[in-house]
Amino acid sequence: MFGMKILRDVFSDAVALDLGTVNTLAAIKGRGIVLREPSAVAVSTGEEREIVEIGSKAMLMLGRTPGQLAVNYPMRDGVISDMELMEAMIRYCIREALGRKAGPMGIRLALCFPLCVSDIERRALMEAAKNAGAREITVLNEALAAAIGAGLPVTAPIGHMVVDMGGGTTDAAVVVLGGIAAHKSVRVGGTHIDKAIVDFVEKEYCLSIGERTAEQVKMTIGSALMGGEEHMQLRGRNMESGLPESIVVSQGEISYAIKNQIKEIVNAVKDTLADTPPELAGDIYTTGITLTGGGACLDGIAELISRETGMGVRVAEDPENCVVKGALMALDMGEDSGLCHEAVSA
Ligand SMILES: Nc1ncnc2c1ncn2[C@@H]1O[C@H](COP(=O)(O)OP(=O)(O)OP(=O)(O)O)[C@@H](O)[C@H]1O
Ligand SMILES: [Mg+2]
Repeated sequence: MFGMKILRDVFSDAVALDLGTVNTLAAIKGRGIVLREPSAVAVSTGEEREIVEIGSKAMLMLGRTPGQLAVNYPMRDGVISDMELMEAMIRYCIREALGRKAGPMGIRLALCFPLCVSDIERRALMEAAKNAGAREITVLNEALAAAIGAGLPVTAPIGHMVVDMGGGTTDAAVVVLGGIAAHKSVRVGGTHIDKAIVDFVEKEYCLSIGERTAEQVKMTIGSALMGGEEHMQLRGRNMESGLPESIVVSQGEISYAIKNQIKEIVNAVKDTLADTPPELAGDIYTTGITLTGGGACLDGIAELISRETGMGVRVAEDPENCVVKGALMALDMGEDSGLCHEAVSA
C-alpha cells in the first residue's frame, strides 16, 4: 500500500485550482503557479449557446461584444451561477495548466471552494474534474487553504486568524490544529466595492462608467481610510446627453462611496473574533490577523482592521496567490495531516 502511494505521488500530476469569483489560478507541484485567468467565459447567445472563449481571451470581449456574444461569469458572490460554464472553466484550466496529457497515474487535484457551495454543486464539480482527467480530488476549504498559503502554522495548537478578501466574498476564519474554530463569510468583496463606485459616480456626476473603470479607480486612489488627498480623472458617458465626458474624483469621495462595504468587511472580522473561544482569542492577540486575497491590497485596510479590533494585522506575501499555493501545499501534506475537507478517489 505504502509503496503504491509513493509510486502514485511520483508519477501523478498534483494540480491545485482556486476557482474564484474574479480570478482563477492553477498551481502544479514542482512548477508553482502556472495559470492565472479571469473567471470569465464568452458565449454565443444564438439559439444554441456555445462557449467561444475562456479566461483573458473572453475578458477582451467584455464591453465590446458584438450582438451574438456575451461574457458570463461562472461564479457570482461566491456562489456558482452557471454550472456548465464552471465545468468548462475547470476543464480549460486543467488542460492549460498541464500543457500536455496527464501522466500515467492521472491527476491529483485540489479544488478550493467557498464554504457556501452546496453539496449538489460540489458533486457536479467533482464530476467535471473527473471528466477532465482528475483521478483523485481533494476539496478544500478556501479559508484554510489561504491560511496555509500565507505561511501560517495551521496544524499548531495555537490559534491564528486569516481574512481572505476576494472579489465576491470576504471570509474570516480562526484556524487551529488543522481545523476551523470560528468562521464568518460575507458576500461583500472587491466586485461590490467596484459597484459602489459605479453607483456613486452615476448619482453624483450623472456619469455612467464601467465596472472595470471603477476597479481602476479603486486600485489607484481607493482607500479604506478617510482623509486621502489624491485625485483621479476618469471617463464615462453622460447619462443625460449620452456623450462621452471626463471628470475628476477625489480620494475622499471614493472613500465615502465605499464606506458601507468596508464597514461590512470590518464587521465580519469583529463578529468572528466575538465567536472565538476565549483561549483562542487570546492567541490571536499575540499571533495577529493575516490578510489574503486581492482585496488585502486595498490601501489602508490593514490599518483600519487593526484600529477597529486592537489586533496586529499584516498583509500576507502575494495575497492573491495564497489560496492556490496553500491548496497545493495541502495536497503535499496528504490525507494524514487531517487538512482535507473531503477526499474522493475517482
Ligand atoms: N490594489 C488593489 N486594491 C484594491 N483591490 C484590489 C487590488 N488588487 C486587486 N484587488 C481586488 O481583488 C479582487 C480579486 O481578488 P481575488 O483574486 O482574491 O478574488 P477571487 O478569489 O476571484 O474572489 P472570491 O475569493 O471572492 O471568489 C478584485 O475585486 C480586485 O479588484
Ligand atoms: Mg478567492
